[in-house]
Amino acid sequence: MSKMWGGRFKKKTNSLVEEFTRSIHFDKRLAEYDCLGSLAHIAVLKKAGFLSSREYKKLEGGIKAILDSIKKGSFKVDDSFEDIHTYIQDLLEKKVGRAALKLHTSRSRNDQVALDTKLYCMKNTSTALGLLSGLIKELVRLARNNLTQVIPAYTHLQHAMPVSLYDYFGAYVEMLSRDVRRLKNVLDNIRLVMGAGAVAGTVIDASKYNIKMMPSCSLSSPVNSVDTVSDRDFVIEILSALSIIGMHLSRLAEDMILWSTKEFGFIEIDEAFCTGSSLMPQKKNPDALELIRGNTGRLYGNLMSVLVMMKGLPLSYNRDMQLDKEPLFGSFEIIQKELEVMIALLPNIKFKRENIEKELQDECLYATDMADYLVQKGVAFKDAHAIIGKLVAYKLKTGKEIKKMSDEMLKSFTPLLTNRVVRGIINPRASVRSKKSVKGKKGVSRYA
Ligand code: ARG
Repeated sequence: MSKMWGGRFKKKTNSLVEEFTRSIHFDKRLAEYDCLGSLAHIAVLKKAGFLSSREYKKLEGGIKAILDSIKKGSFKVDDSFEDIHTYIQDLLEKKVGRAALKLHTSRSRNDQVALDTKLYCMKNTSTALGLLSGLIKELVRLARNNLTQVIPAYTHLQHAMPVSLYDYFGAYVEMLSRDVRRLKNVLDNIRLVMGAGAVAGTVIDASKYNIKMMPSCSLSSPVNSVDTVSDRDFVIEILSALSIIGMHLSRLAEDMILWSTKEFGFIEIDEAFCTGSSLMPQKKNPDALELIRGNTGRLYGNLMSVLVMMKGLPLSYNRDMQLDKEPLFGSFEIIQKELEVMIALLPNIKFKRENIEKELQDECLYATDMADYLVQKGVAFKDAHAIIGKLVAYKLKTGKEIKKMSDEMLKSFTPLLTNRVVRGIINPRASVRSKKSVKGKKGVSRYA
């Protein structure tokens, strides 16, 4: 196992330190991006006159062969190396001989790891974006398939007012659409640069760093070399965006868990997405949704650990920064899996319309609609609120249904309410129809 340093050392590294400082067991996930970065770096070295065409070709062939083996899945990593950068350098030396000894010219692992991590983030963010739009599509489909279904909306987890299921799922579409924009903003903020070296820049002219890397991204020289090797804002921004996505998925999971309880009984989750109990034979538990809810703690923890790790680090690069990888990889993995599970689970929920309709019969859900009716008849809202409050209190105390109250009885609260009027108001669909403030509410294409 060779190192990328060691000339000045007489002693062998203490085996505990060797083990403690090693990162290859997790940063091997950067292998592909390390090769892409090296391909760009040798192009710069050739332009700068540090590599002959022959040396360049040899190195290019060697790096592309490694890339190929990564893509084919035959790439094997020797975990005894310090990190993935060292391992790939060593592999190249074995593959192409002395030309590989020039690969690290004007480069430090400090700028190399920053570039690799940015490339990793770009690739994985676009995977997450694809999955997010997959889930948005599922939610839109659910919304459209349930255009006319009304449910009780809750505030404080207490019956509030009727809303359409369309608007309920539309809320998650809005949340996830913000997540898409948030992730795109993070991507927009990432600058792919090379030439920071260890901290002070390199002897290569800035113009030589202007190269195309992949069809859609170009590299340039850094505006500031010190910042380039000490910046992990992009990791923190991504971990923050992933935490927010996790929070949204957790709320959706929690709603589905609640709705699937016997007490709510609004939905049935397909048993292929549930698990059983080792002791209670009757159980069908929503464990997948619970883990989506539970993983939020890990996502927040990952964000916190990098925020705290970065706080107070003196400029510029410090080895502490190696500890950004596991949280970053972990959060991407969690979010990608959660999105996949949600996309598969949602089309497999069934609505138990009878139970929903039963809940919609709760007359308290229409109290605001009754107050709104009085306001339309000229009553001040505060008075209307008090009148309906008294009517509701009476109903709750006596157990009498408002719909069954006579004109006489209703008159004792207000002369404006009659039995015919309250029957018209206490109707879930009429209640939903009466709300006019939401733009494009009736437009099915709102979430197209
Ligand atoms: N494994 C290190 C990291 O992830 C790579 C950079 C090491 N640089 C150094 N000068 N020791 O941050």
